[in-house]
Amino acid sequence: MDEQESLPPHVLIFPLPLQGPVNSMFKLAELLCFSGLHITILLTENIHNRLVLHTDITSRFDQCPGFQIKTISDGLPDDHPRDGGKFLEVFDSLRTKTKTLFKDMLTSDLLCFDLDGKERRRVSCIIADGVLGFTCDVADEISVPIFCVRTISPCCLWIFFCLPKLIESGEYPFEDDNLDELIKSVPGAETFLRRRDLPSFCRSGDLTDSNIQLYKTEGQENSRAHGLILNTFEELDEPILNQMRTICPNLYPIGPLHAHLKKKQTTLRPSSNSLWAEDRTCIDWLNNQLPNSVIYVSFGSIATMTNDQLIEFWYGLVNSGQKFLWVIRPDSIAGEEWRSKIPVDLATGTKERGYIVEWAPQEEVLAHPAVGGFWTHCGWNSILESVYEGKPMICWPYFFDQQVNSRFVEKVWGIGLDMKDTCDREIVEKMVKDLMVLRKEEFLGRANHMSKLAKNCLMEGGSSYSNFDRLVKDIKSLSD
Ligand code: UDX
Repeated sequence: MDEQESLPPHVLIFPLPLQGPVNSMFKLAELLCFSGLHITILLTENIHNRLVLHTDITSRFDQCPGFQIKTISDGLPDDHPRDGGKFLEVFDSLRTKTKTLFKDMLTSDLLCFDLDGKERRRVSCIIADGVLGFTCDVADEISVPIFCVRTISPCCLWIFFCLPKLIESGEYPFEDDNLDELIKSVPGAETFLRRRDLPSFCRSGDLTDSNIQLYKTEGQENSRAHGLILNTFEELDEPILNQMRTICPNLYPIGPLHAHLKKKQTTLRPSSNSLWAEDRTCIDWLNNQLPNSVIYVSFGSIATMTNDQLIEFWYGLVNSGQKFLWVIRPDSIAGEEWRSKIPVDLATGTKERGYIVEWAPQEEVLAHPAVGGFWTHCGWNSILESVYEGKPMICWPYFFDQQVNSRFVEKVWGIGLDMKDTCDREIVEKMVKDLMVLRKEEFLGRANHMSKLAKNCLMEGGSSYSNFDRLVKDIKSLSD
């Protein structure tokens, strides 16, 4: 037997350099490590530096000998504003500059796993974000098996798979500006999916839009891999997953990943992969609030808002009379002077009922008994974290998959309210009151049911538990 084959498989994990994907791919990496595989997680230098700054990333894996972190350049200058509106530039640079580096690192054994300084295990399998299509090219060229992961919602990914059909049928670009028209070319969603629920970049109506160009090949790209790993569970997304299997037959729905990891985590401390410093004083504040009395407000790591939107939201929250915990990221408001311009009545209302932080330990916040609802931008991680904890949602989708996610929250799962395309203090006030008071039992009932399904799928024999077992077996057999 080849010396390399007697060693555990060595899996290289390559996340997209954004908070959401980094978060969930780290969790996948840790899960695989607990299953006895050797793992290298490949981070862009920028993401690595930020993790070193804000987390215990360098010491967290000390007790985990099968885990190493390596870095690669994203090809951009240090001062490039990578988050927010500039992400397509990061993406282009990854495709053009990082691809070559990636292949060089693999072929020159720079990504080998060192075992006691004696043996070196080459990469035997790659798991990469499915949107990094170049990783499939490289895997093909060097004959290493590859699995793709998509950390966005399956409902959005399914729409990407259907984009060629939407275009061929003439449904896209839209003929007029009626955004409430139902979409017919997305099988399984014909009765509820409107034009306004399509991914935000579809509003451009421009077939040459770089997002349309990028995502319309997702079906083709993802089906090139051995299988597609998804952060969801069968019971949440079964109809959509069955549709997706017509294009990618080998799916591994193994989520919710954050909770899956917690179940297996025996030796390591709970992981934080935050790119911002967490303000834990909000947990002390929550400890002094009544059960289900607080609405948690956070719009993730990318969404931004104008000063006017901020003020509308703020009045809506204060006027609702409910307690609120609000994450306002320093880079999320256009215009730096907003703090000094907050009207006195808002400041007073916040002192009485609210607490504001720049970044929160979100999973812990959502698990807190004082939190009774979540006003979210509908990033997929946020939705899964909320579903797992049984917290109903108000949805203010900002961009990308969030428009379709929010439609599913309201219409398919019935666990929240969709505030899409509005930003008005009266609507905010009404929705907060509906969620937290007037329709509280209705939403909590459905959210609790969904939470039970999410918890059961991770038990021995549950769907995500079994899919994960199958994934590990398949990685092992392909690495032989
Ligand atoms: C991005 C895209 O915007 C989103 O549409 C896609 O579904 C995933 O990738 P992001 O906007 O950051 O993600 O949202 P989300 O997926 O919700 O991820 C945010 C993560 O940051 C969550 O895991 C959340 O727990 C964490 N978070 C957020 C914190 O830890 N603290 C906070 O204060 C806010």
